[in-house]
Amino acid sequence: MNALNIYNPVKIHFGCGLISESGKIAKKYSDSALIITGKSSMQKTGTLDRLTKNLKDAGVNPTIYDKITPNPTIDEIDEAAVIAKKKGVGLIIGLGGGSPLDSAKAVAVAAKGNIPVWNYLKTSAEEALPVITIVSTSGTGSEVNRYSVMSNPETGEKPGFGYVCMYPKEAVIDPEIMLSMPPYVTATTGFDVFVHVLEAFTGKAKNAFSSAYCMQTFYLLKDNLIKAYNEPDNIEARGNMALASALAGLAIDISGVGIIHAMEHPVSGNYPNVAHGVGLAALTIESMKYNIAACKRDFMLIAHHLGIKRAGKSDDEYAASLIEKIQEILEALNLNTGLKDLGVEKDKLAKIAGEAFTTMGFAVQNNPETIDEKEVLRLLEASY
Ligand SMILES: [Fe+2]
Repeated sequence: MNALNIYNPVKIHFGCGLISESGKIAKKYSDSALIITGKSSMQKTGTLDRLTKNLKDAGVNPTIYDKITPNPTIDEIDEAAVIAKKKGVGLIIGLGGGSPLDSAKAVAVAAKGNIPVWNYLKTSAEEALPVITIVSTSGTGSEVNRYSVMSNPETGEKPGFGYVCMYPKEAVIDPEIMLSMPPYVTATTGFDVFVHVLEAFTGKAKNAFSSAYCMQTFYLLKDNLIKAYNEPDNIEARGNMALASALAGLAIDISGVGIIHAMEHPVSGNYPNVAHGVGLAALTIESMKYNIAACKRDFMLIAHHLGIKRAGKSDDEYAASLIEKIQEILEALNLNTGLKDLGVEKDKLAKIAGEAFTTMGFAVQNNPETIDEKEVLRLLEASY
């Protein structure tokens, strides 16, 4: 058997109303914090005001950096890191969806060092400021793992990176602040959860620990993904999707992602208006068809967890029924789309295929079926 090392130090707080504990949690680490968030949703919903008041009440002085875009750039991260240094903050708080949370971890590294954040793709980081994540969407899993994804606007590259020092110290998962998530965000982030567990459960680096997280996530997705989309005020469904997101985040922290993520990052890297989850949606069906022979048994297990009846189907038919089910889910979430619909230009597909290998090589290697650049280009064309 393969040797395993499993490590995740993130203290998780899950529960309705727990955002009001943020000040108390932050105070354990510092008297001053830099909040990293996006440009509008946390302001509109009043969540940012609630957090800053809570921090002040607890004796933590907040500074706000609210310029994070949906596909955060290295310029945004470096700018926030300069502010963190100037202000001498001792804590970074990520507030929002995956983008501010990923950025918070990258800022925490850059604020401790003396090089641009992009250089940390080649130079490993040994230390970072402490990070607290307060997540407002259910998808990224970033709230509980070490990973950060950043875009280089000059080259279109969008690599992921993650060092041990980048694990958040604590994660606040409060389903109440997810009630205001718009349906499209619920759909795209929820589908991201599915692809996280699909790829962690079938990838070459899968193991008993990540599989346990994945199996519970499939159960949660079965009953709550479409429900949360159709019933935005259903706090039970919101809470279960928040749990699914965190479990999937733990699963990919252990076992990584695969070819769907490897192709999607250069898609939204080159087309920053494409949300990660809809990019994944466009690429999933063809990728599953490509992988089915290499992970037939895993597909059958997932089909079982998603409640698909076996009813006399052969192994091949039962594994294939998972792909049909995912197609149905995409339709129910209004995410049944191709790359063309997302504005991707056909003549960019070769560049995207190349970047899947140069910026997401670890995910390509982890794919259950071995794949080369020519085959990736074929998948991109089939997903067009
Ligand atoms: Fe993802």
